[in-house]
Amino acid sequence: MATSPPIAKILLLFSLHFLLCVSDNRLTPGQRMPSNETLTSDVFVLGFFSPRSSGGDLYLGIWYNISQRTVIWVANRESPVTGQPATLLFSVDDRSLRVVGSRGSNFTFWSANPLGAATEAVLLKNGNLVVRDGNGSVLWQSFDHPTDTFLPGMIFRYAYHDRSPNRLTSWKAADDPSPGSFTFGFDSTATLQFMTWRGSEIYYRTSVWSGDAFGSWHTPSSNANFVIYFTVLEDEDGFNFTINVSDSSPYIRYTLNPSGQLQLLGWDSTWKLWQTFVSVPYGCQVYGSCGQFASCNVNGTVPACKCLEGFEPRSQTAWSGGDHSGGCSRTSALRCGEADGFLRVAGMKLPDQFVRVRNKNMSECRSECLTNCSCQAFAYADLNMANAIAPRCLVWTGSFVDAEMITGGEDLYLKIMNFNSGASSGKSRRRKILLLVLSISAAASALACALAAWKFDEQIKGVFRQTKSEELVRDSSLIQEFLNNFSGANEVAIGEAADQAPQLPLINFESLVLATDNFSVSNKLGQGGFGIVYKGVLHGGQEIALKRLIRGSGQGLVEFKNEINLIARLQHRNLVRLLGYCIHGEEKLLAYEYMANKSLDFFLFDPVQKVKLDWGKRFNVIKGIARALVYLHQDSRLRIVHRDLKVSNILLDKDMNPKISDFGMARIFRGNQNEANTKRVVGTYGYMSPEYAMQGLFSMKSDVYSFGVLLLEIVSGLQNSSFHLSLDFTHLLPYAWQLWNEGNAKDFIDPSSNTQSCYLDEALRSIHVGLLCVQDNPSDRPTMSSIVFMLDNEIAISRTPKKPIFTIQRNDPSVENLETYSPNNMTITTVEGR
Ligand SMILES: *[C@@H]1O[C@H](CO)[C@@H](O)[C@H](O)[C@H]1NC(C)=O
Ligand SMILES: *[C@@H]1O[C@H](CO)[C@@H](O)[C@H](O)[C@H]1NC(C)=O
Ligand SMILES: *[C@@H]1O[C@H](CO)[C@@H](O)[C@H](O)[C@H]1NC(C)=O
Ligand SMILES: *[C@@H]1O[C@H](CO)[C@@H](O)[C@H](O)[C@H]1NC(C)=O
Ligand SMILES: *[C@@H]1O[C@H](CO)[C@@H](O)[C@H](O)[C@H]1NC(C)=O
Ligand SMILES: *[C@@H]1O[C@H](CO)[C@@H](O)[C@H](O)[C@H]1NC(C)=O
Ligand SMILES: *[C@@H]1O[C@H](CO)[C@@H](O)[C@H](O)[C@H]1NC(C)=O
Ligand SMILES: *[C@@H]1O[C@H](CO)[C@@H](O)[C@H](O)[C@H]1NC(C)=O
Ligand SMILES: *[C@@H]1O[C@H](CO)[C@@H](O)[C@H](O)[C@H]1NC(C)=O
Ligand SMILES: *[C@@H]1O[C@H](CO)[C@@H](O)[C@H](O)[C@H]1NC(C)=O
Ligand SMILES: *[C@@H]1O[C@H](CO)[C@@H](O)[C@H](O)[C@H]1NC(C)=O
Ligand SMILES: *[C@@H]1O[C@H](CO)[C@@H](O)[C@H](O)[C@H]1NC(C)=O
Repeated sequence: MATSPPIAKILLLFSLHFLLCVSDNRLTPGQRMPSNETLTSDVFVLGFFSPRSSGGDLYLGIWYNISQRTVIWVANRESPVTGQPATLLFSVDDRSLRVVGSRGSNFTFWSANPLGAATEAVLLKNGNLVVRDGNGSVLWQSFDHPTDTFLPGMIFRYAYHDRSPNRLTSWKAADDPSPGSFTFGFDSTATLQFMTWRGSEIYYRTSVWSGDAFGSWHTPSSNANFVIYFTVLEDEDGFNFTINVSDSSPYIRYTLNPSGQLQLLGWDSTWKLWQTFVSVPYGCQVYGSCGQFASCNVNGTVPACKCLEGFEPRSQTAWSGGDHSGGCSRTSALRCGEADGFLRVAGMKLPDQFVRVRNKNMSECRSECLTNCSCQAFAYADLNMANAIAPRCLVWTGSFVDAEMITGGEDLYLKIMNFNSGASSGKSRRRKILLLVLSISAAASALACALAAWKFDEQIKGVFRQTKSEELVRDSSLIQEFLNNFSGANEVAIGEAADQAPQLPLINFESLVLATDNFSVSNKLGQGGFGIVYKGVLHGGQEIALKRLIRGSGQGLVEFKNEINLIARLQHRNLVRLLGYCIHGEEKLLAYEYMANKSLDFFLFDPVQKVKLDWGKRFNVIKGIARALVYLHQDSRLRIVHRDLKVSNILLDKDMNPKISDFGMARIFRGNQNEANTKRVVGTYGYMSPEYAMQGLFSMKSDVYSFGVLLLEIVSGLQNSSFHLSLDFTHLLPYAWQLWNEGNAKDFIDPSSNTQSCYLDEALRSIHVGLLCVQDNPSDRPTMSSIVFMLDNEIAISRTPKKPIFTIQRNDPSVENLETYSPNNMTITTVEGR
């Protein structure tokens, strides 16, 4: 006993002198970790980081040590250490973990609870920082205090008595870890579902828990599947939700991003980027968007609200005008107790505002609803949980919201007036039939649950899959055939100019590897829905922008072929020039002329960069795009509809001259053809004309519409797809129209464009033209050549634009980092039913 203090002292001194090795994954009491050192465990690193490239603020965090630092946990997110070195200290006195400033000042920026018996703090292989006692019991762990990320191995604990269960809280912005406005966690009233909140308002709701589940996803670059298992364990006090992944899985994480999107991301080690597998909400998936008794369907061309069967819009005018807030009501009232029956609506994400009735089996659940006059619907499932099977009877006794049509959804039994109810004689027989139907479907739904179960936004997953795998080129012989077709005399005839296709150079893959430093991250310029764009320098010194198409991305062989064939033939100073292409195994690459100033969105929507776009430059951009479109629509030997005009497809050269890029979606019209119908609607929400979005009809006039949106964005510096200006206007177009109509169009002009009064007329004229372009009726829209005329000449425009009514419901802006696929600005490709 007498010798022990000196030993302790020696140990202490020892540990104070020999702080850490880089490979260490643990701290012991008395040890410090300064900001230039880290703990490492497998792929995870614990250390100090500064989210802004300018440095300055230091946060203690845990991140993936991969080519793209991805932070999964932040300790002192509310109090960064500024202007001094930071240290993580494992206090000898109270055994707490503390983030302190430089030595000498012991202000604590963050601390984990005092932990009397703690003997070590260890970073585990799964990214969890745990503080343990000598017996290995966990006293504190970072997994209990999540930031914005949920990882395999983490537990979302819901305890019935705990009023403040864990939630994920978004970062404020991609470079600001302080708590943002979105949170995600268990819905504490219903407990069977998760919610995303924006402040205190519900922003998104997951499906109702219907049993343990798994989901399988596909990684395009490695052409492999992996599985995520969702597990719930229930005990007397509450339950735990966890996920684990199959062995073949990439690193995966659920992250609530700063714009409120809950995303499932997987690390693609081939492409060195995070693939987004799920990103919700989307369109009318935003909570309650469709109003009462309606369901959202994002499977189709455009997200759409639909009244449930037996219901109709409360206000037909508002509904068809795109305002669904009024919801739907019954076409004929229920006559309680007399002739009610149930209509089974399959494939539903069950609506919210249910009551869970405990301990009822299927038939009891049904009669619970049948005998209660205020009951509108019920749903039943056997909750198949890791440690139990429990019945889950849900009834809806008032109005309800937030239903959705999803693939693999559940059955909702809607109470309706019984069909054929005139015949009283049929009553008992009808009962039998109904019961039979009920029990069969119950069995079927139980099976479906067991298989597909927690439809954690199954159909978004589906949409993604569909998008990515469509026209996926599996068969290399197809590529070979295409190449033969392409280079041989047997030209793939597109349009009338097939005879004189220029010989586009085929660049060999190795020289592209050299040019881009083996596609190094530092050469990356950006990323679109179809691939990553790298800067490259060819052997002779020529700079190129190289688009490397993602295998299995929407741009399959068809688009690739299209793009090569088209661009090779087009020559206009406002169209980006294709210099060559490469096909190597499954790699497909396109080399373009390099554009020193990236794309228009880089400037237009960036508060700092946008001032570089003064009015003169903006007007030059507008006119350049317009001229290129005239060329595409009528002056080239082909007649081409671009179909995907948007700010990010307008590239800028070193003198800020615009060039239209991305012809993957373009289509050629022959002869007198003026309009076409497509089974595949492609384009970007926010830029799609109504007739195209709704009916798949495209024409030059759909490009005119997109041009109008683009023009209004350029003038205002506002983004149509993320428009949050005022409560009265959810979209840019009605806002522009209103200002114009009231004679206040001047207010629409971006102050950053520094439009002097002498140019005001040009700006106002542009707004006028823009509004003519975005009219709902295609025949009201001017042609591109008359647009060029109107922009170039200072004569009064006599036509008055009609108010644009049509808007596609869109969601939030993407403030997220550049590296993920954002469905918000991603090009949408969907297949329409035949
Ligand atoms: C961290 O910085 C301190 C002094 O600032 C230095 O003594 C130490 O060697 C550095 N550690 C590493 C791993 O660079
Ligand atoms: C991160 O990983 C790289 C290579 O995988 C390794 O060299 C480096 O030391 C790691 N960094 C840390 C802080 O562990
Ligand atoms: C450390 O904190 C204690 C009390 O919290 C204070 O008395 C002491 O002066 C501080 N030491 C330094 C070096 O700032
Ligand atoms: C370790 O466990 C033993 C027996 O359960 C207990 O007596 C002892 O206090 C524990 N030690 C610590 C540091 O918790
Ligand atoms: C749930 O997780 C907690 C720790 O967060 C654990 O103590 C508890 O035993 C778990 N319950 C079940 C049923 O697994
Ligand atoms: C994942 O969880 C499932 C269900 O709980 C279990 O069957 C499976 O063995 C687990 N897999 C791994 C890799 O832990
Ligand atoms: C449901 O429960 C009731 C009463 O407990 C029972 O009579 C009935 O057989 C059960 N039905 C089924 C399908 O289990
Ligand atoms: C019907 O359900 C509501 C809501 O659960 C409940 O308040 C009411 O008492 C029920 N009525 C009857 C007659 O059971
Ligand atoms: C979604 O669309 C696909 C293809 O058009 C169709 O097969 C599927 O049934 C649809 N799913 C839902 C829930 O409507
Ligand atoms: C190659 O050309 C033939 C004949 O024109 C056509 O049928 C086939 O679809 C083409 N193949 C590809 C991959 O373009
Ligand atoms: C390029 O990188 C890939 C994977 O990152 C690697 O397999 C390949 O060997 C590298 N090639 C060269 C020439 O460095
Ligand atoms: C989406 O927009 C963000 C911000 O505007 C941008 O950083 C990102 O590259 C865009 N992604 C795609 C797929 O266009």
